[in-house]
Amino acid sequence: MKFNRKDLLGMRELSREEIQLILDTAIPMKDVIKRDIKKVPTLRGKAMVTVFYENSTRTRTSFEIAGKYLSADTVNLAISSSSVQKGESLRDTIKTIEVMGFDLMVMRHSMSGTPQYVARNTSMSVINAGDGQHEHPTQALLDMYSIRESKGTLEGLKVAIVGDILHSRVARSNIYGLSKFGCEIRVVGPSTLIPPEVERMGVKAYYSMEQALRDVDVINVLRIQRERQEAGLFPSLDEYANMYMLSNRHLKYAKEDVLVLHPGPMNRGVEISSEVAEGSHSVINEQVTNGVAVRMALLFLMMGGSKDEIAG
Ligand code: CP
Repeated sequence: MKFNRKDLLGMRELSREEIQLILDTAIPMKDVIKRDIKKVPTLRGKAMVTVFYENSTRTRTSFEIAGKYLSADTVNLAISSSSVQKGESLRDTIKTIEVMGFDLMVMRHSMSGTPQYVARNTSMSVINAGDGQHEHPTQALLDMYSIRESKGTLEGLKVAIVGDILHSRVARSNIYGLSKFGCEIRVVGPSTLIPPEVERMGVKAYYSMEQALRDVDVINVLRIQRERQEAGLFPSLDEYANMYMLSNRHLKYAKEDVLVLHPGPMNRGVEISSEVAEGSHSVINEQVTNGVAVRMALLFLMMGGSKDEIAG
């Protein structure tokens, strides 16, 4: 099966079969990462560029190393030292990159819908690496890969997403993706951070950790951004931590083999305790490794490869 999309803009538009194809293709890619010589010639002659208008450690670096492991030529456009600072428009920036001959652009932007706009206006393939509060599809894909790797399946799992659902592109992409595999999805946090319309996405909203975490297979903890407190959405970080910081005492509500995920970066002591982040249920570091494998799979599939022809 081939991946017949020019762009990857969100989990909402992906079919279950397309998601499965990406996750299956990531399995041999993870083997490549574990080799002494982490290089296959698969994307030799292809060129990709990362264009991040927002900060990133994991997503940008993992896309870059994923491209390098596949032998693509990879370039990062550092926005803070680019001609964007001289006032160059988004449209002109994208056109300038396009005519240099790049095949694929990975883009993050603070404004929802920007990668979609760019994809409509360029011949390059575009991957959305996070747009505003809208979607972060490759985060959802690596989360799903990590869950499937540990649990053996995604089918019918009970998944709780904890924290700032209102502003989270990670939550939104996870909900779209996991729903396609029949997961029971619960969201939990202060009422000010749970949008009332979230239940229209087929998830159930909770305000109590004890109720939300009862018998769940997976807990995905979201980052709390300090500016949410400044906006008055909860009284203080201490207050938030008292009620919603995932700590060992909460894990007893969940299944014995519950898996703990966090997209990073973490605020230890706010949304997650160090004992949980580093405990036996956590796959937070594995998520980062899986992020490289999933992004390798995606680059490979989007630049024309099929699952059966992965180079050894
Ligand atoms: N999870 C995630 O998107 O992390 P970065 O912001 O470091 O890329």
